[in-house]
Amino acid sequence: MMEGQEKPLRAAVIGLGSMGANHARVLADTRGIELVGVVDTDPVRIAAATSGRVTRGFATVDELFQAVSPVLVSIVVPTLLHESVALDVISRGASVLVEKPIAATLGEGRRIASAAAARGVIVSVGHIERFNPAIQELKRRLADGQGGRVLQLRARRVGPFPHRIRDVGVIHDLAPHDIDIMRYLLGDDIDWVFADARRHINTDNEDMFAGILRFGSGAMGLLDINWLTPMKERSLSVLCERGMFVVDYAAQSLGFYENFAAVARDGAIASVTEGPMTRYPIANREPLRAEIEAVRDAVASGGPAPVTAHDGLVALAVSEALVRSSESGSTVHVEAIDL
Ligand SMILES: NC(=O)c1ccc[n+]([C@@H]2O[C@H](COP(=O)([O-])OP(=O)(O)OC[C@H]3O[C@@H](n4cnc5c(N)ncnc54)[C@H](O)[C@@H]3O)[C@@H](O)[C@H]2O)c1
Repeated sequence: MMEGQEKPLRAAVIGLGSMGANHARVLADTRGIELVGVVDTDPVRIAAATSGRVTRGFATVDELFQAVSPVLVSIVVPTLLHESVALDVISRGASVLVEKPIAATLGEGRRIASAAAARGVIVSVGHIERFNPAIQELKRRLADGQGGRVLQLRARRVGPFPHRIRDVGVIHDLAPHDIDIMRYLLGDDIDWVFADARRHINTDNEDMFAGILRFGSGAMGLLDINWLTPMKERSLSVLCERGMFVVDYAAQSLGFYENFAAVARDGAIASVTEGPMTRYPIANREPLRAEIEAVRDAVASGGPAPVTAHDGLVALAVSEALVRSSESGSTVHVEAIDL
C-alpha cells in the first residue's frame, strides 16, 4: 500500500477447488486486500494456489489463524461443510464471505447468521450474479420505471453435469442464483412455489427441474435449471408491460424488446407489438472482483454486507420449498425468515 493509505485487509481462502482458486486469484490482486493464507485438505491445491504468490498455505483453519490471523475469510468448501467451517472462522472473530448457498439446510444457515451477529462480524453470501454488470444495468433501468410493471421473470441456467458436486442437487446448487436475482431486481419476496424435478445422472439428488415462483406483487418467476444440457446457458428475461429485457450472464449483455402498444389508460395492457430491440452498451467486468471489492468495503466500514445472511437464508428457504414441492407434487408456501 502507498503511504497514507489504510492498512490492507488481511484475507484468506478456505477451499481451493474450482471456485476457491478464483477467490484466491482475485483476493491476491485486489487493492486494499492482502491474501495472507489459503487452506485446503489437498496439498496439491495449496501448492497451486501459493505458487508465485507470497501467500502461505495451511492444512487446517487452526494453523491459519495461529500463523496469520485473517480478518476476512472466503469459505469455498463444499456446501455440506459451510456451517462447520463458517462457525469455526466466526468464533475466531473474522468476517466471512461464504459461497452460495449459505449452507446445506436452513437450520445450518441460521446458525451461521446468529453466530456472526453474536460475535459482531459480517457474513456476506456469494450471490455473485448481483455483481454482473448487465444485472446492475438492468436493476437501474427497472428502478427508473423503464418497461413498467414486471409481469414475469424467466431464468434458464443449464449445462453439463459437474461430477465434482455430489453433496447437493441442482436445486440447491444453482437455483439460489436465480431466486436471489429475481428478489433483488423486484425488491419483492416469494409467497409460494411449485416444482417438478428429476434425477437422471446424479445418484442421490435431482439434476433437472422446472419451477414456478409466485411473488407478493403477483409477478411470476419461471426457473428452467438442469445439469443435463450439452451446452451452457445462463440467461434471464424480464417481461414488463412495455417491453422485455433479456440478459445473457456470460456475455454480460442486456437488450430490450419494446412493446409500443403497451398500456391503456386504466393501467391494463392494451396490446402487444413486436417492437424494435435495443442492445445497451455494458462495460464488462469480472463479477467476483466487484463482489470482493464490495465485501472489502463492508468489512472496512463495519457493514452492512453487500449480500446479507438474510438474503442467503431467503434464497435457501425458497430452494428448500422447491425441493419439498417436487417431492409432494403440491405448491409449497415459503417460510418467512426473521433474523
Ligand atoms: N458463486 C458461484 O458462481 C459458485 C460457483 C461454483 C461453486 N460455488 C460454491 O463454492 C463451493 C465450492 O464449490 P467448488 O465447485 O469450488 O467445489 P470443489 O469440489 O471444486 O472444491 C472444494 C474444495 O474444498 C476442499 N475441501 C474439502 N473439505 C475441506 C476442509 N474441511 N477444509 C479445507 N478445504 C476443504 C477440497 O479439497 C476442494 O479443493 C460450493 O458451496 C459451491 O456451491 C459457487
